[in-house]
Amino acid sequence: MEKRTELYRGKAKSVYTTDDPDRLILLFRNDTSAFDGKKIEQLDRKGMVNNRFNAFIMQKLEAAGIPTQFDSLVSDTECLVKKLDMIPVECVVRNYAAGSLVKRLGIEEGQALAPPTFELFLKDDAKGDPFINVSHVVTFGWATAAQIERMQALTLKVNDVLKQLFDDAGLMLVDFKLEFGVFKGEIVLGDEFSPDGCRLWDKTTGKKMDKDRFRQGLGGVIEAYEEVAQRLGVPLA
Ligand code: TMP
Ligand code: ASP
Repeated sequence: MEKRTELYRGKAKSVYTTDDPDRLILLFRNDTSAFDGKKIEQLDRKGMVNNRFNAFIMQKLEAAGIPTQFDSLVSDTECLVKKLDMIPVECVVRNYAAGSLVKRLGIEEGQALAPPTFELFLKDDAKGDPFINVSHVVTFGWATAAQIERMQALTLKVNDVLKQLFDDAGLMLVDFKLEFGVFKGEIVLGDEFSPDGCRLWDKTTGKKMDKDRFRQGLGGVIEAYEEVAQRLGVPLA
């Protein structure tokens, strides 16, 4: 597979075309972003850790019957993926209250949420990724009602699979964000799953093991990501 030109440069990943029109290469950079790009720093090893972490999780999800864009690892920091038409909507599931839910509704951090909540955000940094609902998605044409229904069903299925996987590693899957796209007419999980896009708390100590360490300036960001990877059995370089 030959890597060609840069198609898109996101805050933490770059996307390249390949000699196959249906395949792209994702490059995971060390750039770490928070608050819609207002805080950005380079963290050594992060590109490698997130690339390998994402590959591990996507393969688990595929095995559980969830269609993902992941194809194969290309290098320590790159993977080959299907080229999706991305839907600019972020799907968030919460098993415990944290982050913007705590701020928005004044719920106590850590409160168990049963059933888990499902929320939508518009992927638009300039607008601060605003909270939206299905009606907005359909009216503004970001996705059809049937597509968003499928995205919700897949997101909840991902939650079932990953909650158990992290629980077995001594971690609470507090919340996470997924993005989807369309490949040959089918809704497919895109983007990445890594500690950048979820919250993980140690089950016994409550220690934050995810990007909140970076957002909140707690330090030990990559050390925490690597510990999560090690507990799950993700092979790191
Ligand atoms: P929130 O509490 O800030 O709404 O975030 C919920 C979860 O979704 C948390 O694990 C972080 C993740 N997330 C992203 O990774 N990127 C985003 O742009 C948003 C809105 C959330
Ligand atoms: N992923 C978003 C950003 O980079 C939001 C966040 O993680 O805080 O800025």
